[in-house]
Amino acid sequence: MADLEIKNLHVSAGDKHILKGVDLHVRSGEFHALMGPNGSGKSTLANVIMGHPNLEVTEGQVLFDGEDITEADTDERARMGLFMAFQYPVAIPGVTVAKYLRTIINAHREGRGEDAISLKDFRKQAEAAMEMTQVPREFSSRYLNEGFSGGEKKRMEILQMALLSPKFAVLDETDSGLDIDALNTVAHGVNTIAEPSGMGVLIITHYQRILHMVKPQFVHIMYRGRIVKQGGPELVEVLEQRGYGWIGEEVAAAA
Ligand SMILES: Nc1ncnc2c1ncn2[C@@H]1O[C@H](COP(=O)(O)OP(=O)(O)O)[C@@H](O)[C@H]1O
Ligand SMILES: [Mg+2]
Repeated sequence: MADLEIKNLHVSAGDKHILKGVDLHVRSGEFHALMGPNGSGKSTLANVIMGHPNLEVTEGQVLFDGEDITEADTDERARMGLFMAFQYPVAIPGVTVAKYLRTIINAHREGRGEDAISLKDFRKQAEAAMEMTQVPREFSSRYLNEGFSGGEKKRMEILQMALLSPKFAVLDETDSGLDIDALNTVAHGVNTIAEPSGMGVLIITHYQRILHMVKPQFVHIMYRGRIVKQGGPELVEVLEQRGYGWIGEEVAAAA
């Protein structure tokens, strides 16, 4: 099961009240897109789902598989099966990709009370995942994210998702400068990893492009810290044609 439920969530960073009552429910196997103009609070929602320490939940709850995780720390959430791309965007000098991947796999196994993975099994799984995500083999011996291009970092994240097979993935497409190859990697990753496994996915994006490659069943639009509109994939087309301006007008008219 992978059921993420967000109830009346209010979030602040310092003095700034960013999220102002967000409700969102993503059930197992569902694929949701969260869209909205820059600065509307999308990344804040992604970060608070993962338990970012700088964000304070002042009201409301985050439930995962029915369990209240509002106060759980990031590691705990990861062990429960939540995954976020851009979770580890930093370069780690001296740690190779292979070493890093093995470490995170083992941390997850340990969390589930399992033994460390054998070198043989690790190699087998890593090779299969690298092939699927088109990460060249020689990356195994490179230092994590050091000198990686935006697209290569993106592939690394999808590679992590493939290896960890989380129950729920939050993909924040913060970097709008991704080239078409990187978008393809994300789309391919979501389509080949998430779909068959029943993973829940929340993909966050400012642009519509990726949503032509992966088809969300539900689309939510965030505006000034609230989800102001929800619908199906047809909403993506509406935004493509009309942009975000009308959303603000609708919200103002309803106020
Ligand atoms: N740590 C923080 N401290 C203060 N303000 C923040 C912090 N994080 C985000 N914000 C502000 O909250 C608003 C929403 O930001 P963000 O969630 O990144 O929006 P989006 O991802 O939709 O572009 C912005 O005005 C941003 O400046
Ligand atoms: Mg953002």
